[in-house]
Amino acid sequence: MISLCKVMYVLVLSVIHANTSVNPFRSVPVTVKTYENETVLLPCYVDETESKIRVRWYKDSTLLGDSMDAHHLLPNRVRMHTNYSLQLDSLGAEDTADYTCEVIRPEPMGSIRQTHSIEVQYSPTVRTIPEDGFVEVRKGEYVDIGCDATGTPTPIVNWRKNGETMALLEHRSRIKFRAEHRLLAGVYECIVNNGVGDPVRSSIRVLIDDAPVVSTQRSFVHTAVGLRAALAATVEFAAPPARTAWYRDGRPVRTDDRIVMMVQDNVHQLIFRTVRKSDLGNYTFRAENQLGMADLQFKLTGIPNVASFKVDPVHNKATPTSFTLLWEVDSYSTILEYNLWIRPYYGRLSTTEPDAFTTEAPANLWSKIVVPGDSRQGPIHSAVYTVRGLTPSTVYETIVTSRNRFGWSKPSAVLHFATEPGAGRQVPSTAIYTDITPILEELEPEVHNISQAQVFERVAEMTSSCERETLSVILTFTAIFLSVN
Ligand SMILES: *[C@@H]1O[C@H](CO)[C@@H](O)[C@H](O)[C@H]1NC(C)=O
Ligand SMILES: *[C@@H]1O[C@H](CO)[C@@H](O)[C@H](O)[C@H]1NC(C)=O
Ligand SMILES: *[C@@H]1O[C@H](CO)[C@@H](O)[C@H](O)[C@H]1NC(C)=O
Ligand SMILES: *[C@@H]1O[C@H](CO)[C@@H](O)[C@H](O)[C@H]1NC(C)=O
Ligand SMILES: *[C@@H]1O[C@H](CO)[C@@H](O)[C@H](O)[C@H]1NC(C)=O
Repeated sequence: MISLCKVMYVLVLSVIHANTSVNPFRSVPVTVKTYENETVLLPCYVDETESKIRVRWYKDSTLLGDSMDAHHLLPNRVRMHTNYSLQLDSLGAEDTADYTCEVIRPEPMGSIRQTHSIEVQYSPTVRTIPEDGFVEVRKGEYVDIGCDATGTPTPIVNWRKNGETMALLEHRSRIKFRAEHRLLAGVYECIVNNGVGDPVRSSIRVLIDDAPVVSTQRSFVHTAVGLRAALAATVEFAAPPARTAWYRDGRPVRTDDRIVMMVQDNVHQLIFRTVRKSDLGNYTFRAENQLGMADLQFKLTGIPNVASFKVDPVHNKATPTSFTLLWEVDSYSTILEYNLWIRPYYGRLSTTEPDAFTTEAPANLWSKIVVPGDSRQGPIHSAVYTVRGLTPSTVYETIVTSRNRFGWSKPSAVLHFATEPGAGRQVPSTAIYTDITPILEELEPEVHNISQAQVFERVAEMTSSCERETLSVILTFTAIFLSVN
């Protein structure tokens, strides 16, 4: 006995056709979306006035039953009523199909067909590939993960990585990629949805093994005798976990009450409680695992930190022939002197053709100006200096270095500044220069070579641009040499 609520009646709609005589069906094709264990009744009604007819039902292209052939037994759970409706009970996944009713009429009318569809809907289920939801590969190997989804209608699969939606072109169930970078590691989650019930989710954790990656905020650590100082290295990444050590001149650092190592989260510190003169020098932090190692070079030094120019419209006074510069430097010891290096900037006005710009690289070498230090103890020292004898309407670049009793600091970032237009001098495009305010240019960041697993402190040489020129000259000669051959 089928309970009424479980029967899905497919109502017969009398559709008014412009040419009913051609289409004798009084039922319309339907697509029934239903659920497991439900019952469906598919109609096959033709005009009552038709003479005695014969009806056959097909599931896809397989004959299910024939009204004139009682020997052809209908499958289990399927019945054909006297009004030719087909009833399917206790629906299951295998019943999702097209059902065609064929009405066979006497000649010359021939047979006509009408097709209905049943879709037994199932909420989605998902199984991850691999099933345990965990993948560990070495860098460079392939990752192949997926979410096998079932459900009717066919579910769509969306992916998230570490909680962020992945912009994939299709709703693919499988993801394959080369573990080219450790940042490709993470939690990959698939969200499977077909509109039936709630979406289901499952996730796969991808681990990529690689050599350690280390970094530091400060590799050049300024200090003075008697102060506390700390070298700090961060292990950004290490899978499998890394062994770590501090070295000085190739030998492990001896720790005691005064020199201690500290590890907190991924930050490894070498702490000098009270710095002695003998502590000043070069240190190396090393992190190593089966796949490689990474070194960080540190320098514990008494020499001043890198100075920085201050850009300040009140102090940076410009005249046609002078410019006032302002800078600051950290040093625990008195600054004995500064060296201010200055030269006209590339793109300056040509000296040979007064009305033209030159695009030649500056031939001028840096001019050095010695600026006396101050007598203060610091740690912050500031200096103001007015450079005189400059050319009007000219852009200059400048660098400053500082010296205390431990030695010279590394050069500052480059500052660009411009002099005012000069009276009586014809300047073709005054606007170009008068609009220039001093610009600070950052030094190149320190390069941490991951692939080589070796990190060296990069020293910005003052001669670097000269070296570049030399290099380009060498390259040009090489090119000429090659073309001659
Ligand atoms: C009416 O009949 C013509 C020709 O038999 C057919 O092309 C057309 O689609 C039919 N129109 C309708 C609404 O069934
Ligand atoms: C359908 O019937 C079977 C057997 O009685 C039962 O296990 C299953 O949970 C039913 N499905 C639904 C959707 O009610
Ligand atoms: C066709 O027969 C079935 C079974 O008797 C019945 O449930 C259904 O309502 C009938 N359809 C029409 C339109 O009479
Ligand atoms: C420290 O390293 C620098 C190069 O980074 C080198 O020039 C210097 O001589 C080293 N100092 C000592 C004390 O080894
Ligand atoms: C990093 O190391 C690789 C491999 O040794 C090398 O090819 C590359 O030039 C290095 N890059 C830098 C910036 O030093």
